[in-house]
Amino acid sequence: MATTTPPVSPSAKPTVRDLYDAMSYGPAPEGDAPVREWIARHDGTFGHYINGQWVAGSSTFEVLEPATGKSLAHVAQGTAADVDAAVAAARAALPAWQALDDHARARWIYALARGIQKHARHFAVLETLDNGKPIRETRDIDIPLVARHFYHHAGWAQLLSSEFPNHHAYGVVGQVIPWNFPLLMLAWKVAPALAAGNTIVLKPAEYTPLTAIRFAELVHEIGLPPGVFNLVTGDGSTGAAIVSHEGVDKIAFTGSTEVGRAIRVATAGSGKGLSLELGGKSPFIVFEDADLDSVVEGVVDAIWFNQGQVCCAGSRLLVQEGVADRLLAKLRDRMERLRVGSPLDKAVDMGAIVAPVQLERIRALCKQGVDEGATCWQPSWAEPKDGWFHPPTLFTNVAPSATIAQVEIFGPVLVSMTFRTPEEAVALANNTPFGLAASVWSENINLALDVAPKLKCGVVWINSTNLFDASAGFGGYRESGFGREGGREGLWEYLKPIKAHEAAPLPVIDATAHVEADEEPVEVAALPAIDRTPKLFIGGKQARPDSGYSVTVRALSGRAVGEVGEGNRKDIRNAVEAAQAASGWAKLSGHQRAQILYYIAENLSARAEEFAQRIVSMTGDAIAAGQDEVNAAISRLFTYAAWADKHDGAVHDVPLRGVALAMHEPIGVVGVACPDPYPLLGLVSLVAPLVATGNRVVAVPSERFPLAATDFYSVLETSDVPAGVINIVTGPRDSLVRTLADHDDVDAVWYFGARSGATAVEKASAANLKRTWTEWTGREWLDPRAGEGRDFLRRAVQVKNIWIPYGE
Ligand code: NAI
Repeated sequence: MATTTPPVSPSAKPTVRDLYDAMSYGPAPEGDAPVREWIARHDGTFGHYINGQWVAGSSTFEVLEPATGKSLAHVAQGTAADVDAAVAAARAALPAWQALDDHARARWIYALARGIQKHARHFAVLETLDNGKPIRETRDIDIPLVARHFYHHAGWAQLLSSEFPNHHAYGVVGQVIPWNFPLLMLAWKVAPALAAGNTIVLKPAEYTPLTAIRFAELVHEIGLPPGVFNLVTGDGSTGAAIVSHEGVDKIAFTGSTEVGRAIRVATAGSGKGLSLELGGKSPFIVFEDADLDSVVEGVVDAIWFNQGQVCCAGSRLLVQEGVADRLLAKLRDRMERLRVGSPLDKAVDMGAIVAPVQLERIRALCKQGVDEGATCWQPSWAEPKDGWFHPPTLFTNVAPSATIAQVEIFGPVLVSMTFRTPEEAVALANNTPFGLAASVWSENINLALDVAPKLKCGVVWINSTNLFDASAGFGGYRESGFGREGGREGLWEYLKPIKAHEAAPLPVIDATAHVEADEEPVEVAALPAIDRTPKLFIGGKQARPDSGYSVTVRALSGRAVGEVGEGNRKDIRNAVEAAQAASGWAKLSGHQRAQILYYIAENLSARAEEFAQRIVSMTGDAIAAGQDEVNAAISRLFTYAAWADKHDGAVHDVPLRGVALAMHEPIGVVGVACPDPYPLLGLVSLVAPLVATGNRVVAVPSERFPLAATDFYSVLETSDVPAGVINIVTGPRDSLVRTLADHDDVDAVWYFGARSGATAVEKASAANLKRTWTEWTGREWLDPRAGEGRDFLRRAVQVKNIWIPYGE
């Protein structure tokens, strides 16, 4: 046990003086008898909870207690048939659950919140037994946050119709959660899903299913209608069965990046909604003017909270050079005094690691750290050996590229590096593929707030760490996943727009079919001149396609009406490079971006008739249809010019003396595949919301009717659009977009086309977990209710929550 103070002599009764000098902790165990009795009452064996009933599994697996390694319970291993039954129950329960009014759903969720609170101690002890985390954490953090989450979402259920008009629930949602915060992750998933009117099939992690089982009992006790919440326990194969089940409308997952990737691939082209909360390697940045004593306590919370098994753990300590030695000395001193032991002991700082395999993984990574030349430091005392414990560990002399500086260790292991300037700190901080969270420590608030937006991550804590609340969104950038949990941001993940405006698909023509020369000549009379030198638009310049080829564009009638350049993967790569270089666009004010969108609209308006002619020359529609489309495109540009300085973030009302700022940040470089119908309006409808919010775009126009887009770049050229902000590459849409989806420097892809293309995009996106928005059902782009608005803007940004405590 960790202590540096002299032990009190066991022979003599200690005097007050002895106790005062020793200041050691006595044991302070939390009683676990009621929880062990609860397990015993079930003969230590638990089934699934499906359609309001407990169902025995065809086989079971053993759940072990991390602090002792002993058996706790046996739990059903879910099969495909169990998942089928649970999905069927959730489907059957859906109509009645959705028919309830907001208040009724709010009452059910409120009842869950009250139930959690009433049984808080039971849940806390059970969680500690099952997971190995200290009772201090389950009692004071996990379970209170669970209750808070249900209360908060009872509120959203009550306000759902008024606050989320024109949206409805996905339907049946499948939720797969990890073992590090078992009941809290359940709450983060279940509360918003229910509030939005979904029904649920949830699978807890195989190491820690017991609090979810107790939660299902609570669901039963309060009488939630059967089938609204279903629990299937099991391992990864059970999770995979949920993910691939055709009856599931949305998957929400928290866990490893590796499994998140597999789920992205498994759901590609299925039309299922998906949110992923994955791993991290979060920086903990300390500037030399920081209050170092506070920093030390911050580090304790950042990396030794829950034994470091925290997706947003501050696992990379980045310290400004001048204070590094001082801080590391203080830190070692504090580590020497940390107490590792029985998690039921109320005076223990760190409990046990969840499972032997996780402990082995941590040890193996530590060994690799040493093998790669880093210096490992651990306190002088030994951790208990009767369960799965790991001492707090500090690495110094770590190269930024070292395995331990890049890989998520998910254990109590801190990796420390130094920097000289704020720019270097930001570069080091962003030097991983992850982007979940960051802590910034400085007494200079100007510096801290200057650094926060430069960090590529979804949460930033200023002079604090690991703060969570139901009212603030939580979630990552880059390979830490997408989607948010908590607050209004999180609720969107369980809702989709009511789609009343689907458009009929275009008639199929063979665009490559040749027209007999004597049958239909190239149609030029009464039309704008055919572009004889078709180009792409890259980096603000017209560029010849790398292939040197062009393709003939044919009208619906089959007549040739012009030519466009045939872009290839090299053109796409050039366009992505140009877009990357145009990062200054994100730094312009909304007003400045609006000015440019207005200017584009103005220049398009000056050439409206020419564009209308061009469109109908391809589509064969009456000229009025072309005019309507151009007018709608001009109006749409106005819409996003209007939004450019109005798509505000929010200030969340978190329980802290301070604020949490939810900032809307652009995603970065976005690839856009435009739909065939409305070749100009479709392009404008997708590109304008992206650039209004600070993104840069590589657009692949309609493959069948690309001429409106090639004309459009001549409008861009005269509208002061900075080079690289909008790039246009014509050619074979699906293969060009595939290159975009494969590209590591592309942060998102919007694809509006065929289902096969959408599937390919979603599959390829798994490599760097880029955000995707795919649609193959068609939209009535002319109708502003379908073609513009907040849904587009929401998808064009990612939310960064910056927590700023006040006070000295
Ligand atoms: P994991 O990602 O395998 O497990 C998380 C959940 O996914 C569990 O419920 C598991 O049964 C389920 N699952 C596993 N394979 C699946 C599949 N193919 N389809 C659907 N569901 C599946 O995480 P694991 O193996 O428990 O931990 C390994 C590493 O992952 C850890 O060392 C840590 O680095 C990371 N991790 C990160 C978490 C986070 O919150 N970001 C949480 C848990 C683990």
